[in-house]
Amino acid sequence: MARLKVAVLISGRGSNLAALIAACAAADFPAAVALVLSNRADAAGLAHAARAGIPCRVIAHRDFATREAFDEALDLALRADGIELVCLAGFMRLLGADFVTRWRDRLINIHPSLLPAFPGLGTHARALAAGVRFAGCTVHFVRPAMDEGPIIVQAAVPVLPGDDEARLAARVLAAEHRSYPLAVRLIAEGRVRVADERVEIDGAAGQMPVVLNPPDSA
Ligand code: GAR
Repeated sequence: MARLKVAVLISGRGSNLAALIAACAAADFPAAVALVLSNRADAAGLAHAARAGIPCRVIAHRDFATREAFDEALDLALRADGIELVCLAGFMRLLGADFVTRWRDRLINIHPSLLPAFPGLGTHARALAAGVRFAGCTVHFVRPAMDEGPIIVQAAVPVLPGDDEARLAARVLAAEHRSYPLAVRLIAEGRVRVADERVEIDGAAGQMPVVLNPPDSA
């Protein structure tokens, strides 16, 4: 089985990277993490790549005079390794429109909210302040605007009484760790199409329960 060659771009902790590496360890998973890039030398997540024997490189944005030059260096590294899909996983640099266009529909991101709600930073605090009863995460194709683009996978998690930012973030993060491998698998299986800026997934029509919060037994 030819596995889809995936690069993961990180800036920090790298728990989503670790989830992707773990998923790829299964013999029947149709993708492999072939390269990890970080824009920060001190990104803790680099250790996950090293432990798994995955090539990693630091391309520090500070070493480049312009965003375009930084993006170009990323692009060169990705192409040199024959990367077919790029996963942003806590990569905290906005990529320029040229880069995003060049990798259109081969570049995905995970964000810790049910987009289009709460893009940007401080997601969980804003969700709590808004009083939403469900939070969640989104894996989407990247477009030039931040946290925008056709949605591949979403996971909903309840906001529970007594939640603070840390508790809600931990619940959402656990859902991220299931959502990102699912999105990568569906893409690697060739089941994901973008039509009219919406995602269609072959064979994904199934019944799902409606979840109420609070439950109607309350
Ligand atoms: C994750 O929660 C991810 O959704 C978020 O950064 C965290 C990275 O954690 N990304 C964004 O907010 C992008 N807008 P990780 O380094 O442990 O994977």
